[in-house]
Amino acid sequence: MAVDKKTNERLEDLKQRKDEAHGTGNEARVEQQHAKGKLTARERISLLLDPGTFEEIDPFVVHRSSHFGIAERKYPGDSVVTGYGKIHGRTAYVYSQDFTVFGGSLSEVTAEKICKIMDMAMRNGAPIIGIADSGGARIQEGVASLAGYGEIFMRNTLASGVVPQISAILGPSAGGAVYSPAITDFTMMVRGISMMFITGPEVVKAVTGEDISQEELGGAESHAALSGVSHFTLESEEECMDTIRHLLSFLPQNNLDDPPMADQDDDPDRIDEDLRAIVPDDSNRAYDMLEVITRIVDNGEFLEIQRDFAPNIIIGYGRLAGRPVGIVAQQPAYLAGVIDIHASVKAARFVRFCDAFNIPIITFVDVPGYMPGKDQEHRGIIRQGAKLLYAYAEATVPKLTVVTRKAYGGAYIVMGSKHLRADVNFAWPTAEIAVMGPDAAVNIIHRRRLAEAENPDALRAELIEEYKENFANPYAAAERGFIDDVIDPAETRPKLIRALDMLQNKRDTLPPKKHGNIPL
Ligand code: HXC
Repeated sequence: MAVDKKTNERLEDLKQRKDEAHGTGNEARVEQQHAKGKLTARERISLLLDPGTFEEIDPFVVHRSSHFGIAERKYPGDSVVTGYGKIHGRTAYVYSQDFTVFGGSLSEVTAEKICKIMDMAMRNGAPIIGIADSGGARIQEGVASLAGYGEIFMRNTLASGVVPQISAILGPSAGGAVYSPAITDFTMMVRGISMMFITGPEVVKAVTGEDISQEELGGAESHAALSGVSHFTLESEEECMDTIRHLLSFLPQNNLDDPPMADQDDDPDRIDEDLRAIVPDDSNRAYDMLEVITRIVDNGEFLEIQRDFAPNIIIGYGRLAGRPVGIVAQQPAYLAGVIDIHASVKAARFVRFCDAFNIPIITFVDVPGYMPGKDQEHRGIIRQGAKLLYAYAEATVPKLTVVTRKAYGGAYIVMGSKHLRADVNFAWPTAEIAVMGPDAAVNIIHRRRLAEAENPDALRAELIEEYKENFANPYAAAERGFIDDVIDPAETRPKLIRALDMLQNKRDTLPPKKHGNIPL
């Protein structure tokens, strides 16, 4: 059917407006962005979403400010691109700050655009991914911009535990703006591009006299290894988007949804005899718990989170018979797998995320205890260590635990013990479940005998052997039913899969309350 002239003109006008909104005429700034080694807001969205699925919202929104001569500088869409599309065929909402417009700074209307899609994500129950690349509050808009941040933070908080929220920091994220990613569930940073700080190096220098580079203060490595603010360090923006897609493949769309089942192409009954040889005879020798995990999960696929932060505890996602599971495990190869403040906080937040989003938790235990010492005590290991205990106790998702070796003292209780409502607790024959390790225990309970002995070393060795026989094994706990079964390590995968299957319809609750008071 022929289209009349007027309609043609309107369509041409629409095309021109869309071109302008898509950045046509802004090539110089796009070049500047590329020269910094960064992609544009739209290029990032294209990499993130399934090809051709992006539907933009609010491309014609412009700012309403007239201060400082910016009334004439209006760009359709202003400094953020927002909309929705698909990731692995499932809906996801996205906003991507556009550094080529006022340095990606947050105006009143860009905040409104972001809030609009956050509201849609919550109402329609799908994840939201925020891509940050911004100079912070739009200085020319003053308090209106600050109010916009407040509205975003509010929605981040309300969405927490309702839909997964992921932040990709692909440029600066400075000042109070960092609190949006801080509230979201996962933060991704790219080496050499991402920058997060409350105050930049100049302010640091002025206030404290410290000389520090942007990279050292708030670059990807600092936040991955030292502060624990970031969850993934990537080498490129492409890898960042791939990792977000990979991460989402383990997560449900919202808190009322189940995690997505994957094709079951690894034998659920597969046994692995090499698992029998992983724990060394000498219980003070290290081994790599990652090897235990990758031998058990489907196809050895394990997405580790916060790899560089508190490596004494491992967290991440894998699958068992196609079903996503969250895994928490000690790493005996780092600080003997002790629980320190960072390890507790890292694992606690992970356990709470899994619990909020119906993801079963599998715990592998080899823990000598909580970290002793003045530094940890004075920095609050009592209240910080309590976070992990609280998180496990509160979690009502299926909880399965395998004690591979040490499970001592309070750390035994914390790490998914029966006493914290774990559903199925297994131990390998190498497990040592006791109040403390043999050496420390013998020194305390036999102090007087050892002090009076003619040959204290020989007596100590004898007493340690006796203690090991009586306590440093899984059977004292199994006799009481605290361990449901002692299993051949080779059979760990089928045992976990059968238990998980048995727990499919688990229903457990918390007493009615507004919310608990986790020791923060
Ligand atoms: C308005 C801004 C802006 C801002 C950058 N621009 N930040 N416009 N408000 N906050 C503009 C610049 O004027 C410039 O415009 C363009 O963006 C690119 O900026 P450049 O400085 O040329 O880029 P670059 O050298 O890469 O430096 C990027 C930067 C720097 C490090 C982000 O721009 C910067 O320091 N900006 C200010 C950061 C800041 O202090 N923000 C306020 C934080 S407090 P033209 O047209 O000249 O190219 C805050 C409070 C939030 O955000 C509170 C929440 C509760």
